[in-house]
Amino acid sequence: MDAARFFSSGWIRFPYDASVAEWAARARPIAEACVADPVQRARWLRCGGTWFVGVNVFPNDAAGAVAEAGVPPLAGAPIDFVKNVLGLDVALDRAQVSVCWPGYPQPSAGESESAFRFRRDRDAAHVDGIRRHEGRRRRLGEAHGFILGVPLTETAAEAAPLVVWEGSHEIIRRALRARLNDVPEERWIDEDITETYVAARRECFDACRRVTVHARPGEAYLIHRLALHGVAPWAAADGGERMIAYFRPDPFPGHARRWWLERP
Ligand SMILES: [Fe+2]
Repeated sequence: MDAARFFSSGWIRFPYDASVAEWAARARPIAEACVADPVQRARWLRCGGTWFVGVNVFPNDAAGAVAEAGVPPLAGAPIDFVKNVLGLDVALDRAQVSVCWPGYPQPSAGESESAFRFRRDRDAAHVDGIRRHEGRRRRLGEAHGFILGVPLTETAAEAAPLVVWEGSHEIIRRALRARLNDVPEERWIDEDITETYVAARRECFDACRRVTVHARPGEAYLIHRLALHGVAPWAAADGGERMIAYFRPDPFPGHARRWWLERP
């Protein structure tokens, strides 16, 4: 039931799980230390200081644990789902620690005016694993098996939540399959897929329901690796910070990308 819903909508939220809650409570002070570190701040603060990107800054091992700091391995419903439904027994990557503050998004020095408008008006919608190349061009980049979000702070639902376009993973899949059909798998990463990607993204905006995904510590959510997603502007009345750990491991490092496009 859950599996069917995940594969048709492209996302699922897991209800409160004591194992996830324990992990989030133990992980939070470590994540806060990452965000307070001047070196990490210099590297990862964007959008006028309203977003800390924090890719792979969390010091966890392949099970999600930070043994010396008392953070246990990540366990519970999300990890069971990844194993049993996605069929992936993966080594976790170092988690991204993504933090948003009131006012997100503000203009950035490194962001064009049109990119800022897209962030503000279209949630900076994107597909992980498709990267920018020479400005606005797009190619395949890193492959991720899934996106697993684990909230570390309690926030209002309007505090820059993740946004996902339901069913978009199948539109992206269909478009890229048609585009890459005649290209040998080893050469996929060299292909310029800009036109295909932009057209498919537009189709998702037109055809798919945009849903905001809010969760509290102890809950978690899983986003399909091909799903169009982004971050909504901060619209909550209260302050605070919205801190989420994201795991996005590559389950088949070193392999060509057909699995990424063709697995359920
Ligand atoms: Fe993303």
